Order: sequence, then structure tokens, then C-alpha cells
Amino acid sequence: MSRKIRKAVFPVAGLGTRFLPATKAVPKEMLTVVDRPVIQHVVDEARAAGIEHFVFVTGRGKAVIEDHFDMNFELDRTLSERGKLKELEALARDLPEAGRTSFTRQQAPLGLGHAVWCARDIIGDEPFALLLPDMLHHGKQPCLAGMIDAYERHGGNLVAVYEVPDSDTHQYGICGVKDQNGALAITQMVEKPKQGTSPSNLAISGRYILQPEIFNILETQERGAGGEIQLTDAMITLAQKQDFYAHIFDGAIYDCGMKIGFLMANLMLGLERPDLGPELRKAIANLK
Ligand code: G1P
Repeated sequence: MSRKIRKAVFPVAGLGTRFLPATKAVPKEMLTVVDRPVIQHVVDEARAAGIEHFVFVTGRGKAVIEDHFDMNFELDRTLSERGKLKELEALARDLPEAGRTSFTRQQAPLGLGHAVWCARDIIGDEPFALLLPDMLHHGKQPCLAGMIDAYERHGGNLVAVYEVPDSDTHQYGICGVKDQNGALAITQMVEKPKQGTSPSNLAISGRYILQPEIFNILETQERGAGGEIQLTDAMITLAQKQDFYAHIFDGAIYDCGMKIGFLMANLMLGLERPDLGPELRKAIANLK
């Protein structure tokens, strides 16, 4: 039987240079999609998949993320004094249980592989989920929940993938796949292939289930694409020893690391909200 996925890692150390000046003093993970910070949407996804412990790999200037996932006593008292019980309840619902979050720092920006490696002591010797907060996965079933269902069937390691146009493959990790008893087994992975050399259009969308052996590989992983320690390179080594599957997410994916993806996420999630959607739709129809 596959070992249960209890912990999830969220790498939140990135600088967010694409969103300057918004991200000069505010971490990019705290920018809001409608009225929830991007990181909150991704933590919601992990909670919906039954994750019990949330591990944030942070960096300088990110302390506000820790505050966001803590109780704000003064705010709670003020809300309660003003009778704003709905808001108070909503905050309580979002708050992870005490002792269920961990924060560690990536001391230097050496790449995603290095950020994940920084979580090794907190994860220990068990399989874990990894969610990249830039990528908002939005569908009927949360992406990670679907991955955990698949993981419980066949075990091993998993990455979520989605189809991107030829012109974008060089911006992502790309997988080659083949059908194996109804599952998609990974035959090839490459991080940011040069244009025209991509093995497929299936890009890694930022959701992973990984076995703990990844940490030993990361320990000595050399720098790859962009001069960074790449998680994909370590996964290529792991795939030589363990099963590796791709999971196609049935929903929309917004790359909130890009301005256009971020704006689309706000628009689409706004349109779906019963309290905002009808008015927003009307306002768009009346645009001059
Ligand atoms: C990272 C991963 C890449 C993945 C992408 C998804 O790249 O290395 O494999 O496709 O996230 O957003 P980054 O966006 O950090 O360059």
C-alpha cells in the first residue's frame, strides 16, 4: 500500500521581479486573486486534499506569509466587538491548526531543487506533496486531491501536466509519456528545453507527489537550466529507480507568475463568485 501523503511543501522564496513595484515590499505570494492571497488559494487546495502539515520554504522579506497563517488577536477582538461574526468565522476556518505549519528559509536563491531540499528535515522519510504557489489550479476537483487518488492506486511519484503551445515549452519542465495500464507513465523529462527540441507539449504544472529519496539526489544535484539547481534534473535521476507518472488536471491553470495569468485568474474567479460575478459580467459588457 502507498504511504499516506501528510505533508506539503510550498516554496515561497522567489523574488517576484516580474511584478515590481507591487512586490517591492509585499511578497508575490500575497498578491490577491479576488480577495484571497495567491498562497491562500494554494493552501486551500492542499487542505482539500487532506494535507495535515504545511511547510513553507521562505526567504528574506517573506515574514508576512507567516503572519498570514497565524492568529491575529487584535483583529479578531475588533471584529468580535463590532459584531462582524461572519468575517471572524471565515478567518477561523482558514487558520491551520496550531502546530501544523513549519517555516524554513532558503538562504540563497539557488533554484527550485535547492528550495525543496531545504525542507528535507521537516519532511523526513515520507512521501510528500509539493505545490508551486504561482500556479493556480482551478477545477471541480482540486488538482492535488485527484493526484492523491491516482497515487493511492499506483504509488510512485507523480507530476501534474498540462498542454502548452509550442511557443511556450521552453518556459517549463516538459514530460514525454506513454500509456501504462490506464496510467500515464513518464518516459522522459527535460527542464526548459530549447525551442524546437521539446519531447512533447505536456508541461509540468507545479503539483508534485514525491518520494523522500529525492532529497538524497538533490543533495549533490549540479546546476542545470538557468544556472539553478533544478528539481526536474533530480526527478530524472529518481525516475531511473522509481515509478514516475503524469497526471492530467481536468480544469483551468493560471500561471500567476505572469501578469496575463494573474489578471485572468482574477477575472475568471471573480466571474464565478455569486456575490461579484453578475455585476462584473455587466461591467465587462459595458466596457468602452
Ligand atoms: C518551475 C519548474 C518547471 C515547471 C514550472 C511550472 O519552473 O522548474 O519544471 O514547469 O515551475 O511553473 P519556474 O517557473 O520556477 O522557472
